[in-house]
Amino acid sequence: MIALAEDTEAKVSACENAVGQSLTSQQSRPIRPLPEVMAAIESCASLPLEDAVTTPPEAYTSEEYYQWEVTNIFHREWQCVAHVSQIPKPGDFLNLDLLGEPLIVVRGKDESVRVLSRVCPHRGMDIMPPGFGHEGHGVAESRGSEPNCGHTRLFLCPYHAWTFELDGKLKACPEMQQARGFKRDDHGLMPFRTEIWRGFIFVNFDGQAAPLAERLSEMNVDFGDWHSEDMQVIIEREWDCPFNWKVLVENFMESYHHLGAHAKTLQPMMPARDTWNEQERDSYVRCHLPFKEALVAEWEAMEKAGGNPFGFPTIQSLADWKKKESGLFLIYPNFLTFVLPDRVVWYRVQPMGPHRMKLLTTMLVPKSTTEHPEFPEMLTRETKMLIDFHLEDMEMCTAIQRGMRSLGAQQGRLSHLEMSVWLMQRYLAARGRGSWPAQDRPAAPAQR
Ligand code: FES
Ligand SMILES: [Fe+2]
Repeated sequence: MIALAEDTEAKVSACENAVGQSLTSQQSRPIRPLPEVMAAIESCASLPLEDAVTTPPEAYTSEEYYQWEVTNIFHREWQCVAHVSQIPKPGDFLNLDLLGEPLIVVRGKDESVRVLSRVCPHRGMDIMPPGFGHEGHGVAESRGSEPNCGHTRLFLCPYHAWTFELDGKLKACPEMQQARGFKRDDHGLMPFRTEIWRGFIFVNFDGQAAPLAERLSEMNVDFGDWHSEDMQVIIEREWDCPFNWKVLVENFMESYHHLGAHAKTLQPMMPARDTWNEQERDSYVRCHLPFKEALVAEWEAMEKAGGNPFGFPTIQSLADWKKKESGLFLIYPNFLTFVLPDRVVWYRVQPMGPHRMKLLTTMLVPKSTTEHPEFPEMLTRETKMLIDFHLEDMEMCTAIQRGMRSLGAQQGRLSHLEMSVWLMQRYLAARGRGSWPAQDRPAAPAQR
């Protein structure tokens, strides 16, 4: 664990207190029934950007709408659960609970990555239950500082000691010889459909989603330049978030708030006014955040003199224009990354209810960066940076959720710099029609 600077520690603990308080805050605003909420979203989504209004408060607060999202969005779409560098060797695994599903992401003896249910096929025990003082996971040993990462030869259910291979097949089960017709092959851990795209491991719960690689062929050309498949996760930090998942997605994808929330940090580097969105697409959103011209000139000079203007060494294979801006990508519904000329930052968003989500802020760099002699110092500095500016967002998102619950919540107007918020409305509305953006309506044009 990297030691944090004192001021950052103080801000983190203030944030944790605020999170605790927010989780108990009341819903005072009445919530309309689901069909009315869906109709209200559809009506926002049909306005042109110039007339756009904010998303109805119930989209962030209604239990009924959240359940609709789980069934019609999250179970049907691809959810990103890990990066390949987090389970580099056969037997390495990582656990997470996603939408109530206890999952293991594991690299098998055949090097394949699988996402398996942790629910034992015998009596439904979680084979690696978090908490309760269960003394470890049998044959598994923990890996690194993360309690949910480990290495093992096989999985052992702690209840009646059934064991499973890394691919989920039942290996052994004691005292089952009298169970008539029992066949071990029928009783493995349930596998979920998995696809690896650019090093990111995705899972699809209903097994029906179109292959990601097909849906993202256009994004692959652009995002592919960072070669995230060869990168390493170097920082992960978990946040308990007392707000709806869309509050975070919208906050991540619009840079209008640089003017307020990041007035001293990001705004001087990437002024809100210069940010812009590409044309609407069915599967993803792409925004550009150009750096201030004066800074670009300064950084180019610094780089010529052998410095690292962005914190880590610049990725030299990137096209020149990609060294002059930051970029945001959203793969619908909740895969978020921002790219810089030296790194990829990934936010793992795990919705937990209308008012809560878990977030993992994760940073990836090329392997060569981790071998740089000054890497430890760079890592300490950049960890602080990642936490500091995320704290600015935590403060905003926490307060926004309280606003959405209150009688005072109104539907405001959107700036053109909030095009991503409007695109999210168009995504939600399209899913409500059983379609995707730009498939059954003309695509919104690029802002440049
Ligand atoms: S519930 Fe897992 S072995 Fe019985
Ligand atoms: Fe922000």
